[in-house]
Amino acid sequence: MKLSPLISGLAALPMGALAWGGFGHITVAYVASNFVSSETSAYFQNLLRNHTQDYLSGVATWADSVRYTKWGHFSGPLHYIDAKDSPPTYCGIVYERDCKQEGCVVSAIQNYTSQLLDPELHESARLIAAKFIIHFVGDIHQPLHTEDVAKGGNGILVKFDDVKLNLHHVWDTSIAEKLVSGGRVSRQPYGEAKRWADALTAEINDGKFNVSSRSWLEGVDLADPIATALRWAIEGNEHVCTTVLPRGPDEIRNQELGGGTEYLLKAAPVVELQIAKAGYRLAAWLNLIAAAIAKSEREHSTAGDL
Ligand code: ADE
Ligand code: ZN
Ligand code: ZN
Repeated sequence: MKLSPLISGLAALPMGALAWGGFGHITVAYVASNFVSSETSAYFQNLLRNHTQDYLSGVATWADSVRYTKWGHFSGPLHYIDAKDSPPTYCGIVYERDCKQEGCVVSAIQNYTSQLLDPELHESARLIAAKFIIHFVGDIHQPLHTEDVAKGGNGILVKFDDVKLNLHHVWDTSIAEKLVSGGRVSRQPYGEAKRWADALTAEINDGKFNVSSRSWLEGVDLADPIATALRWAIEGNEHVCTTVLPRGPDEIRNQELGGGTEYLLKAAPVVELQIAKAGYRLAAWLNLIAAAIAKSEREHSTAGDL
């Protein structure tokens, strides 16, 4: 697919490369920090050598910063799973069909989780595994990170508030920024992301997500990370048929999707929901990991005492 010089130039900019946009990932991480146990925050603050409230959000975009480096090149395909479905008539992910040889976001969550659970894992690899998990649990909740069509919408040109962008960027970044700050891009996203995360946290604790969030952890099983992550991916992918491409990829080309459109009215609540779910699930996943590590350390030390 040939992109216009303007769009391909934009895509080369670091912000254009950020999945969920940096803003989405940072918000997911702040939501997660509001739901982790004290044991979990102590473990990850220690590992990440950051004892502030920003210990998760501070590393949430690291994976996007390395994917275009020589070292991080291998990790490019790990940010998504390219479901070979056919929106809007058929959505669905088949792990064996859609997760490629080089890996995908589902296998990456499995791989880095099992690395963290390995007591022999070197500290430097442990740090990398933690940073990848914090990022990929965000990515898997972006509907277009679970879709093959036009490389997850990267090859579909649309307009957002009169600016030509690709659909992937609209879902990574534009909708979230419009929701929170009316579309003005902040160069200092952390403060705004923290405020949004705290608002989403309140919605989960006793607002509009209070009832639905009780089902968000269904199927979460540390003994089966593939099944857990696949469930998250399939759920996100369903939004591609209903909300991202409700009339298919051809109908949306060159359409205006920004302020005042019915598209934005339907898309914004999905972005909000997926960011909240991602943060809540990331907290649960980190809690399970930290508890398993603590348990194995206890068993190890009592075995040594015998
Ligand atoms: N590259 C190829 N498919 C992609 C997707 N679904 N999301 C992000 N980048 C991609
Ligand atoms: Zn990513
Ligand atoms: Zn993306």
